Amino acid sequence: MPRLVADREVFRRASDLAQVMAAAAVREADGQHILHLERGEPDFDTPPHIVEALAVAVRAGETHYANPGGVLPLRVALAEKLSLENGISCHPEDVVITAGATHALSLLFQALLSPGDEILLLSPYWMMLPRMLGLVEGARWRAVPAYLDLMDESLAPAGLAARLRASLRSETRGIYLNTPNNPTGAVLTLEQLEAVAEVAREHDLWVVSDESYENLLFDKASHVSIATLPGMSARTMTVFSFSKTYAMTGWRLGYVVSPPALRPVLGPTLCALTTYGVFPAVQIAGLAALRGPHTAVDTMRRAYQARRDALFAGLEGQHAIRAPKPAGAFYVFADVSAALERRTTWDLVREWLQLGVAVLPGTAFGPFPEYVRISLATRKEDVVEAARRLREHYAGPGAKK
Ligand SMILES: Cc1ncc(COP(=O)(O)O)c(C=O)c1O
Repeated sequence: MPRLVADREVFRRASDLAQVMAAAAVREADGQHILHLERGEPDFDTPPHIVEALAVAVRAGETHYANPGGVLPLRVALAEKLSLENGISCHPEDVVITAGATHALSLLFQALLSPGDEILLLSPYWMMLPRMLGLVEGARWRAVPAYLDLMDESLAPAGLAARLRASLRSETRGIYLNTPNNPTGAVLTLEQLEAVAEVAREHDLWVVSDESYENLLFDKASHVSIATLPGMSARTMTVFSFSKTYAMTGWRLGYVVSPPALRPVLGPTLCALTTYGVFPAVQIAGLAALRGPHTAVDTMRRAYQARRDALFAGLEGQHAIRAPKPAGAFYVFADVSAALERRTTWDLVREWLQLGVAVLPGTAFGPFPEYVRISLATRKEDVVEAARRLREHYAGPGAKK
């Protein structure tokens, strides 16, 4: 019998998210009420003016093949947004519209990595990355721990640069970073980004900057794009998404801005050969999202912040779960070492499922066996109830310490 799929790890193992969701579904089928703090997708509906723009565009016949790199009006609008909001000046042709940030990252890795090449991933990283890199023949990657140490300030920017330098090998071609970060909620500061940029310039590396959560910032945090730092625009590919900002996960809309050197590669080649572009009506609706009122964006951002605060308030008084307060995105990466008692993070995830609280194991995001990721992308009532159950479990009468 011919071989049906290539013999690679990525095809053999279900994602951690799929495993947790399946375990939660089994319990739900038995009648248990599960609080879903494992999923990374906004629980809000897409704002109505964006939905309406899609309907209008479909009726107007925006249903045909378009330029595989994206329709011009959206690329022009995004170039304007990139310049005004991110400080990235670019030609519309260097903005390529993709089927979400996932597609953009996948195309970039295909474009940038030859067999034997390596990319460093600041960690903890978005859990899809190793699997995505597993699809690129011969590509290698290594994790460089960063966000947690930056959050608790045990790692200064100079220390981050030193850590990156110490991780370099002759086959290292680039660095992937993600700010605001999934799963820690860290938002990299200008100084921290300067440290990464310094190493990239020094060693002629490119940088893939995943800024999918750029609008989800709490308190006084501000977002900086590394492409704006001196000498970085020629070596940085910056990836953005409509998924989180506008609660448009299912629409599959994202974009990447890259140096002109990639102009013949991303749109006319890789987009053309993979999806042949995003549904044009969806792109027109994306234009409405960009140009329309942003009140819903701000309402959602404030809701995530309120949920974050409710979680931290709800967990007060117990010592088994400790977490740095996220400055952005909608996740809390919690240190649960005090609750593990020589068990694994998966054991703990299963124990929490018995309590009706679904989260993801820290090992999904790199070598973090003493952590779990708690998502805030669910109703505030559920976040409060999850905190209550956990607090009771760890601080109530007869509680585990
Ligand atoms: C860091 C990060 N990058 C990219 C993505 C993918 O986003 P999209 O829906 O635009 O493909 C996600 C989704 O969770 C993410 O967390």
